[in-house]
Amino acid sequence: MTKVLVATEKPFAKVAVDGIRKEVEAAGYELALLEKYTEKKQLLEAVADAEALIIRSDKVDNEVFEAAKKLKIVVRAGAGYDNIDLEAATAHKVVAMNTPGQNANAVAELALGLMVYAVRNFYNGTSGTELLGKKLGIHAFGNVGRNVARIAKGFGMDVYAYDAYCPAEVMKQAGVTPVNSAAELYEKCQFVSLHIPATAETKGSIGYELVSKMPKGGVLLNTARKEVIDEAGLIKLLEERPDLKYITDIKPDADADFAAKAEGRYFATPKKMGAQTAEANINAGIAAAKQIVDYIKNGVEKFRVNK
Ligand code: 3PG
Repeated sequence: MTKVLVATEKPFAKVAVDGIRKEVEAAGYELALLEKYTEKKQLLEAVADAEALIIRSDKVDNEVFEAAKKLKIVVRAGAGYDNIDLEAATAHKVVAMNTPGQNANAVAELALGLMVYAVRNFYNGTSGTELLGKKLGIHAFGNVGRNVARIAKGFGMDVYAYDAYCPAEVMKQAGVTPVNSAAELYEKCQFVSLHIPATAETKGSIGYELVSKMPKGGVLLNTARKEVIDEAGLIKLLEERPDLKYITDIKPDADADFAAKAEGRYFATPKKMGAQTAEANINAGIAAAKQIVDYIKNGVEKFRVNK
């Protein structure tokens, strides 16, 4: 019987696992679960007889593909697939997919929640400021960026966006003002929310030079990836500019340094939690299961991300 393995170091909500199971069993396949694993060895053992694999931010590298002798497809239940070695997937004749958009609202809601948290001084009881009328810059206008724009407009924010790959017309239709460069976005906006993927081009790209362009009282918000930040550069800037704040749901490598050098102006959630809602888990998990069934039964490769 075809085995579908759900391997999630950070598990889906139970209701999402139930939904995935329903899809998988309706197709006549068997579901195996590896949750909260602590060692790679456990993943290597669990994938040995799996034909399909559903993951979240779990790392799937060449060693995992080597161990997964029967694997045909791996689906990242979520947007970013920087945790999958795509070349290794192709070399092992495995199709890799993501489930774009399925958890975008969850991440966007958290982004706005973190903005409120920042301007209300981390809910410490002191007088803060409001978001109404403030300029928000959305760095990358994909599924999450678009949801952030929608919600931010509800707060009455003045929304701008920069995305080299998204036509200005799409932004305008969403009531968002396009700008021509990242530099312009950071110069204009007191709030900047990052929604760029971690790629060779973006890694370490958000640092001293760009963020120093932000106006007084600037808040940089990162619910994207820790890798896009030049941590040393950002720490240096936060030390020089006591008006700036850095808020993230992806703990940086230099967490202790950020906490010490930007005390009261830095916050990181204990675990990456943008997509950690029942709804996002259901949407992304079930989409992943459906894409697996559709690929194995009908050869549908719509959301394939490797060549
Ligand atoms: C994504 O890329 O979809 C989000 O960052 C969510 O990641 P997660 O599944 O690890 O919560």
